[in-house]
Amino acid sequence: MSAFGNGKVILLGEHAVVHGVAAIAAGLRDGARAALVERRAASLHVAPWNVTARPDDGTSLGAAFSALLRAREDDRRPSEPAPTHGHIEACVALPGSAGLGSSAALAVALLRALDIADGIERDFARSQAVALAWERVFHGNPSGIDTALALVGGLVRYRRSAGSEPSLVPLSAARPLTLVVGQSGEPGSTRAMVERVATHRGREGWDEALADIEALVRCAEQAIVDGALDVLGNAMGRCHERLAAWGVSTPRLDAMCERARAAGALGAKLTGGGGGGCMIALVASENVAAQVADALARMGCPSFSTTVGGVSTEAR
Ligand code: MEV
Repeated sequence: MSAFGNGKVILLGEHAVVHGVAAIAAGLRDGARAALVERRAASLHVAPWNVTARPDDGTSLGAAFSALLRAREDDRRPSEPAPTHGHIEACVALPGSAGLGSSAALAVALLRALDIADGIERDFARSQAVALAWERVFHGNPSGIDTALALVGGLVRYRRSAGSEPSLVPLSAARPLTLVVGQSGEPGSTRAMVERVATHRGREGWDEALADIEALVRCAEQAIVDGALDVLGNAMGRCHERLAAWGVSTPRLDAMCERARAAGALGAKLTGGGGGGCMIALVASENVAAQVADALARMGCPSFSTTVGGVSTEAR
């Protein structure tokens, strides 16, 4: 039996969420799957990347795998069995370094595969803590939004909280939101972009930027509940401008957002860590989604469309 972790898109609030601001994100139907296929020394094979890692084998994947296994052992309750080790086969159905939460999806799929093997039912807080040990290896100081979405899917408002559980509020959309997710083809490093944003901390305009993004998230949440897509699209566009001012957009991502809007999108922005990776465009119909996809394809950018906030985006 295989276990699943969702990928995600952030609609608003990435980067600011690291600094305590709320963000809105949705789980993707695609993500990562994993299964423990043989009980023996721990190893991990990931398709379609065709990489194999062992704990502490000198690679970052090996370091993350090791951190997850250690965190799982540290989290063990007296009533639970000694952790199983073995060979795990995993498959990631998302582009990597693209802001779609592939590493968090993989962490959650691995954790769940091991928990299935041990017969452990781990709640959200415990799962989040273990998956974050993996994410810290790749991303330094993650807010936890990627692992939270990998665990719960759906459409949520997320806020990290120092020293306690994050707040995770499911949002009920008046109507499903159709997003076109466009890939720039430039790999983005979330860690590098989070560090870049942190250099603005304490500088002039920092508090105003965070307060503005918080207000945009609040406005977007109300727009989602009311079905006011134009208001949501506008908030997304303003959020992109804030992110660009922190230096986490690229000329290609900016151009993709512009083309998407010219093709009829109600709003467009980069999504996730930026510095490359993906952008999202909010559209009012499948027809406009096709027009946006065409416009992006003419730039050489593949895309897919997804619906969030309607039927559950979780897949198990
Ligand atoms: C990455 O998907 C989202 C960021 O806000 C980083 C984080 O929240 O950990 C850029």
